[in-house]
Amino acid sequence: MNKKIELSANALTVLERRYLKKDKGKVTEKPEDMFKRVAQNISEAELRYGKEDSEVEKIANDFYELMTKLDFLPNSPTLMNAGNELQQLAACFVLPVEDSMESIFETIKHAALIHKSGGGTGFSFSRLRPQRDRVLTTGGVASGPISFMKVFNAATEAVKQGGTRRGANMGILRVDHPDILEFIKIKEDNKELTNFNLSVGITEAFMEAVEKGETYELINPRNGEVVKQLMAKEVFDLLIDSSWKSGEPGIIFLDRMNETNPTPKIGEIESTNPCGEQPLLPYEACNLGSINLANFVNKGKLDYKHLRTAIKLSVRFLDNVIDMGQYPLQQITDIVQANRKIGLGVMGFADSLIKLGIPYNSEGAVTFAEEIMGFIQQETKVASEELAQERGSFPNFEMSVYPGKGMKGLRNATTTTIAPTGTISIIAGVSSGIEPLFAVCYKRNILDNDELLEVHPLFEELAKNRGFYSEGLMEEIAEKGTVRGIKGIPIDIQQLFVTAHDISPQWHVQIQAAFQKYTDNAVSKTVNFHNEATREDIKEVFMLSYKLKCKGVTVYRDGSRDNQVLTKGDVK
Ligand code: CDP
Repeated sequence: MNKKIELSANALTVLERRYLKKDKGKVTEKPEDMFKRVAQNISEAELRYGKEDSEVEKIANDFYELMTKLDFLPNSPTLMNAGNELQQLAACFVLPVEDSMESIFETIKHAALIHKSGGGTGFSFSRLRPQRDRVLTTGGVASGPISFMKVFNAATEAVKQGGTRRGANMGILRVDHPDILEFIKIKEDNKELTNFNLSVGITEAFMEAVEKGETYELINPRNGEVVKQLMAKEVFDLLIDSSWKSGEPGIIFLDRMNETNPTPKIGEIESTNPCGEQPLLPYEACNLGSINLANFVNKGKLDYKHLRTAIKLSVRFLDNVIDMGQYPLQQITDIVQANRKIGLGVMGFADSLIKLGIPYNSEGAVTFAEEIMGFIQQETKVASEELAQERGSFPNFEMSVYPGKGMKGLRNATTTTIAPTGTISIIAGVSSGIEPLFAVCYKRNILDNDELLEVHPLFEELAKNRGFYSEGLMEEIAEKGTVRGIKGIPIDIQQLFVTAHDISPQWHVQIQAAFQKYTDNAVSKTVNFHNEATREDIKEVFMLSYKLKCKGVTVYRDGSRDNQVLTKGDVK
C-alpha cells in the first residue's frame, strides 16, 4: 500500500478541509494515508468470516488499489470516519416520526446524532395530525407537521457547526395529508426550512385523479377520517407553480417505491434520504459507493472485464462497511444488519460518454446508460449471491420478495443506487453522478481578487490535438457558459461537450429513466431548465418522469433560487 495517488488541486483542497485527519487544526494525514486507513479498516470485517490475516491483508491491498486508482470511492462518511473514533460510515438514514411529542423530540435527538457523524436523514411527516386538529390529553389544538419541521430545521442548524459536514434532511408529506397545500408553498419563502429538501409523496390514486380530472380525498392520519376533497389537477398545478418558482418541492412516487420494496413484510417505505436516491424503511441506513465510469473507457471502448472485477470488489467492500459501521442507535443497527442494503452506483457518466464520442442528449447515450447500468445491476447481483454463499443471505431474506422470484440466496436486500456524488466526484476529478457537464470552462475565484480559468481536461486535450486551443477561446467559453455557437469550435465538438443547460429537459428525464430501469433503489438527478421555461414545461417533465417509471423527479429552473449554489462560471 505505497502507491502514490494523483489528485487535482480541487481534490486536495476538499480532502484537506474535511477528510484528512487533523491535530489542533493541522493536517496530519496524507491522501494515501487516508485510503490506507479506510482499506485496512474495511478489510477487518473479513476476520468475522474466518479469513486468515494474510488473506485480509491481500483484500486490504485490493481495496487500496481500487480506491487509489479512483476506480471506485465509497460515500464521504466512510472516507471520513473509517478507522477513526466515530466509525459511522453510512450517508443515508430514514427515521420515523410518529404522532406524539415523545416520538417527535426523540427523532430530533436521533437526527442530531446522525448529522454529527456526517449522515443525512429523511423523514415522512405524514403521520402527524394536521394543524388545528384536536390534542386529546391537553384539550388544545395541534401545531401540525410544518411547525414541527421548523423545529427539526432549527436543531439541524445548531448541530451544523460542530459536525463533520452540513446536515441535510429530506421532508416528505403525502399528497393526501390535510396540510399539503401549505407544505407545497412553504419554500417560496427561501428563508424557510433551509436545511431541508422537500418532496411531496405522490400516490397512484392521485395521479389517476389528475389524469381523469377528478377530485381526491385528504385524510386525517390520526383517525383516518376524510377531511376534504380537492381537485387533483389544482393541487398538481400548485405543485408545478412552486417547483417553477423555487425548484421545490420535488415529487416522489410513493406507490412505485413500495412496488419495488424488497421487504414489504418488514415495513412500508415512506421516505428517502436527503437527496432522494435512497428509499428506506424507518430506522434503516444505507452506505453508498460509486464506480468511476470514466476510468473504464480506454481507446474509445468500455473495458467490461475490468469493470466486472471492480464491481465484484466494490460489492464486497460495501458489504464489509455494514459490519464495520457503528450506528448511533440500536434500532438502526438491528434493521441494517437484517436487510444489509448497499447502493453501488456510478460517477463520471458524462465524462465516459465524451470519451466514447457520444453526446449526452442522444439516443446513443440512453442506450449506453441502459447497457452499462444493466451490466452493473447484473454483476452486483452475482457478487451478492457469491457473498451469500460465503457469508449467508441477509437475515430477512426468507421474508423478502426474493425467494418468490426463485432466488436461492442474496447477501443484500438491494445492491444499486445512483448517488449525487457531490464530493467524491471532486475527489475523483470527474463529472458528478449521471449529470451532464455543468461547464466546459469556468472561472474560479481564488483568494481575494484572483481568478483561475479551469478547463475541462478532456476538452483541453481534444482542443490541443485538433489545433483549436487558445486562451482567448477558453475565456470566451467561460463567459458564455457553453461551447454552442462559438466560432472556431468544430460542430462535432460542440455537440459532444454539451452542458446541463444545452440539454432539453426531456433528455435529462430519459437518461434518469434509463438508469432507473436497472437500479434497485432510486436515482439522484436534477432536470435543468432555462430561466425562460414555463410552468407547462415543468408539467410535461413531471408527466414524462411518471410515464417513464422514474421514482421521483427534481427540477431546477436557472436563477429561480436567490442563493443558487451553482451558477455558470462558478463551481462549489
Ligand atoms: O459525494 P458524497 O459521498 O459526499 O455524497 P453525495 O453522493 O453527494 O450524497 C449522498 C448522500 O449523502 C445524500 O443523499 C445525503 O443522504 C448525504 N449527504 C448529507 O447528509 N449531507 C451533505 N452535505 C451531503 C450529502
